[in-house]
Amino acid sequence: MPQPKKIVILISGRGSNMEALLDAKLPCQIAAVVSNRADAEGLDFARARGIATAVLSHRDFADRESFDAALAQVVDGYSPDLVVLAGFMRILTTGFVKHYAGRLINIHPSLLPAYPGIDTHERALQDGIKIHGCTVHFVTPHLDHGPIIIQAAVPVLRDDTPESLATRVLHEEHRIYPQAVRWLCQNQVWLDGNGRVASDRLEQLGSTLFAPGLE
Ligand code: GRF
Repeated sequence: MPQPKKIVILISGRGSNMEALLDAKLPCQIAAVVSNRADAEGLDFARARGIATAVLSHRDFADRESFDAALAQVVDGYSPDLVVLAGFMRILTTGFVKHYAGRLINIHPSLLPAYPGIDTHERALQDGIKIHGCTVHFVTPHLDHGPIIIQAAVPVLRDDTPESLATRVLHEEHRIYPQAVRWLCQNQVWLDGNGRVASDRLEQLGSTLFAPGLE
């Protein structure tokens, strides 16, 4: 039996995606949860599950490069096969991203490449789009543009507020992130030599989402 892969999860706050990952009984070892904020709510949940935690405040560093170098040292202390960004609210330097090339993933609350960056739900509502969603992708130096592993789409409803839309999207985030990590831990999805996502999963014809629905 090969050793289970080790993963390190990086958070900055609430940590609901981290919770979904810890609850998913993934075929991997969750080696640690690391936060750049000591007050990240998710840390308590991880500690209660007996998972090692570490805090490295970005405020203790003069610039991004020195913070990211120290962060990589902390993360590498756990020898991870996969580093999972789950609401980690720091833009990472190219050096950090390249160090973890092919083993650093992120979840983003939009159907990338639409709405990279922040305030995705507000911007989606302003534009009047009818279908929104979330994306799990490999991280590359181009912010929120790395190769896509899985996406989930939700309808945008007439009376949606940014909060109601965020809740609907977050529900799907909690489904697709564990799925993506499971595939990666079982070597069923990987990054090929051309920087594209490759997979041995059979492609399925899912059901089409119409928004509004057809009559
Ligand atoms: C999620 O919406 C995620 O897509 C984004 O930041 C939010 C983090 O939420 N990157 P949580 O900390 O996982 O609850």
